Amino acid sequence: MTTQNEPSQTSKTFSFTPKIEIKALEVLQKYPEDWQASAVMPLLDLAQRQNGGWLSQAAIEYVANRLSMPLIRVYEVASFYTMYNLKPIGEHHIEVCTNLPCWLRGSDQLVQACEDFLGIKSGQTTDDGKFTMSEVECLGACVNAPMMQINDDYYEDLNVDATIKILSKLKAGSKPKTGSQSGRRSCEPATGLTSLLHQKKLLDKQHNKGKG
Ligand code: FES
Repeated sequence: MTTQNEPSQTSKTFSFTPKIEIKALEVLQKYPEDWQASAVMPLLDLAQRQNGGWLSQAAIEYVANRLSMPLIRVYEVASFYTMYNLKPIGEHHIEVCTNLPCWLRGSDQLVQACEDFLGIKSGQTTDDGKFTMSEVECLGACVNAPMMQINDDYYEDLNVDATIKILSKLKAGSKPKTGSQSGRRSCEPATGLTSLLHQKKLLDKQHNKGKG
C-alpha cells in the first residue's frame, strides 16, 4: 500500500487538453476581467480531473499562470480543501464523512469497515491502485448521515452492511446504487411524510388518473 504522504512521481509539464480548454473558457467567462482569480477552484477541479484525480506541481503552476496568481495562493487553495488531492489516488476515492452528525450516526464503524475490507488505513491506497480511503469533514448531506462520497457520487444512510456491499460491488467492477441506502427517497423523513399529506393525496389521485 502507499500513503498520501509518500513522495510521488510528478510530470514536469501540464496544460489543458483542447476539450478541457473549452470548459475552462466557459468558467472564465463567468468572471469579470479583473476578477479571473475567482475561477481558481473550478480551474483546479478541471486540472485535477484531467490529471487522473490529483494535482501535480505542474498542474498547480499551470492554473496559477493562467490566472496570473502567485503560486503560493493557488497552492493554499489546493492544500486547504479535501476535494483536491496532492498525491496520486486510486480509481475509487472513498471519502468517509466523520464530522459530528455522521459521527453521532456511526461513522467510526464505517471507517473501520472500510479499513478492514480494503486492508488499508485512512489516507492510504491499495496496492492494486483501485481504492484510496480518506476521512473528510462535512459533505453537506447530514440529514442522510452517515454517508460517504466515492468519486462524484454520494452514498447515504449507511451502515456497515451497506458499506461492505458498496465496496464489494466496486471491487467486482459494477456500479452500486447511489444515494440513500435505506430505501427512503432523497432526504424525505425516514418514517414517511409528516406534512402536506392532504396535498400528497391529491397529487397521487391526479397521478393515478393520468395513468388510467
Ligand atoms: S456531518 Fe456528514 S455530511 Fe454533514
